[in-house]
This record gives sequence, structure tokens and C-alpha cells, in this order.
Amino acid sequence: MQTISQVSELREQVNSWRTRGQTIALVPTMGNLHAGHLALVARGIAEADRVIVSIFVNPIQFVAGEDYKDYPRTVGPDLDKLAGMDTDLVFLPEMDEIFPEGLREHTRVTVPALDQLHCGEFRPGHFTGVATIVVKLLNLVQPDVAIFGEKDYQQLLVIRRLVSDLAIPVRIIGFPIVREQDGLAMSSRNHYLSEDERKQAPLLYATLKAMADAIMDGGSDYKMLEDQAFRRLQQSGFRPEYVRVCDAGNLGEPRNSDVVILAAAWLGKTRMIDNIAVQHYD
Ligand code: PAJ
Repeated sequence: MQTISQVSELREQVNSWRTRGQTIALVPTMGNLHAGHLALVARGIAEADRVIVSIFVNPIQFVAGEDYKDYPRTVGPDLDKLAGMDTDLVFLPEMDEIFPEGLREHTRVTVPALDQLHCGEFRPGHFTGVATIVVKLLNLVQPDVAIFGEKDYQQLLVIRRLVSDLAIPVRIIGFPIVREQDGLAMSSRNHYLSEDERKQAPLLYATLKAMADAIMDGGSDYKMLEDQAFRRLQQSGFRPEYVRVCDAGNLGEPRNSDVVILAAAWLGKTRMIDNIAVQHYD
């Protein structure tokens, strides 16, 4: 496994694989890798001849006051995990390799409308930061496929949309959420949870699952289900930002039977998100 931090070296290696006719998969991450990330890497290995994992804690997707400084950085163990699974290359750029002219004047990519909803409402500018870094990584690597988790459902839709709108020649694969045995969606931010909070945390998924079951059983009063879930989370010590049933394709009002339940809630100082897609035919 190669570890490369320079863009020029990355391009050289990618070109040499390309001239040999090899296909490339990219898995972008911010590191602190867990089994969810590694499942994406395994999918990348299955999809292409070469798999590149990027590790970069992207400052421009953190809103002022968020956890950019505290975000867990664990490069050593991350590299061990990736080496253990046939990763070809880890791209580990320094800040000035990605933002040579600084952050403020760097070009931004915005996906309007989609980036204002849900998480975008509570994290203004977040999705512009994500869209910008993802376009940059896609341009640097020019992979055949790139793999993203459905854990960040809104992020995945933002990326699908920008790839389509900007005609970027890459296939985007969405990978299902990898969960702990008790249902908690794996996340680097779960490390922030105290022991007690960790015990409480699976209730977020349990609440969404109960909503999904109610919808599958014919429940169609989404507003009532959302309010119930919101209160249940509040009563259990969470500070929910939102719990919403939305159209699975555009995250607006549900139009048909293809919906996704999205939620974000704080537990102590940890912001958690989760979602469940529901296809119900009534
Ligand atoms: P990060 O949070 O490190 O996640 C990297 C990728 O892993 C994302 O596509 C995310 O959706 C996926 N992922 C995280 N937890 C998962 C889980 N439990 N199951 C399945 N997939 C999971 O998302 C980002 O980084 C950044 O926004 C990034 C896209 C790298 C841009 O900076």
C-alpha cells in the first residue's frame, strides 16, 4: 500500500494505472476509520482494479463553533486497517496541498435547494464545503467509481446531484449503513459519547425503526409520527434538531411511496444523524 501526500505524485500513480487500462475506485473519508468506512473500501475493491482511499479532515465543511479541532485524527491505526485489506493507495494530503491559496478565496461548489434542507438548515454552508472537497477529490483522482455511505443520506444526494449537474464522468455508488449490534449507526463522532450516552444512543435508530414500521403498517399521518418521535427523543435525553419523513429522491415533501425518514439529534456534545428508507405500497 502506498501513502501519498503530494498531488503530483498522486497524478503520476493514477496515470500509470490508467495507461495499463486499470479502473480506479475512490473512497473519500475524514479518517478515524471504522467498520462502516472499511465496508466502503471493500466495495471499492470489488468494483475496480485499484482502490484509493483519501483521508482529509476538510475544514470548510465544519461550521463555525463545530468540532473541527476536536475531530478524531488517528492516521496510524487508520493506515494499519487499510493495509490489512488490500488498499492500493492512501491519499493523505496536507492542508496547503488542497488549499494552496488558503481557504477564504477558494472556489466553492454549491448545490442550491438540496443544501438548504434538513442538516443544511442547522449547518449553514456545510454542504457547500462537502460539495467543494468532493469535486476537488474527483478531479484529482478521476476515478471510474466513487463510493459514499447512505449514513449521510443528504450528502449522498448532494453528491449525486453535483455529479449529474456538472457532468462529472464518475459512477457514484451508495453503500448501506453499517450498524453496531444494538442498531447504532457507526460514526467517528460516536467516540464523543460518554458511557451512559453510548447506552442511550441506539434509541435514535429504534425511534426511526418504530416510525418506519408504523408507515409500513399503513400509517400516513407523517406529521403525527414526526412529532411523536421528536417527543420520544426529547423525553429520553436527546436534543433533536429534526425528525422528518421526506421524499427519498429530493428530500422534499413525500410525493409517493418512496420515502426516507431523516433525523438529527444531539446527545450531550455529540451530534448524531441517522435515517431509514421506507418503500411502502398501500
Ligand atoms: P466521513 O464521515 O469520514 O465518512 C466517509 C464515508 O463513509 C462517507 O461516504 C460516509 O457516508 C461513510 N460512512 C460513515 N459512516 C458509515 C456507516 N456507519 N455505514 C456506511 N457508511 C458510512 O462523509 C465524510 O467523511 C465527508 O463528508 C467526505 C465525504 C469525506 C468529504 O469530506
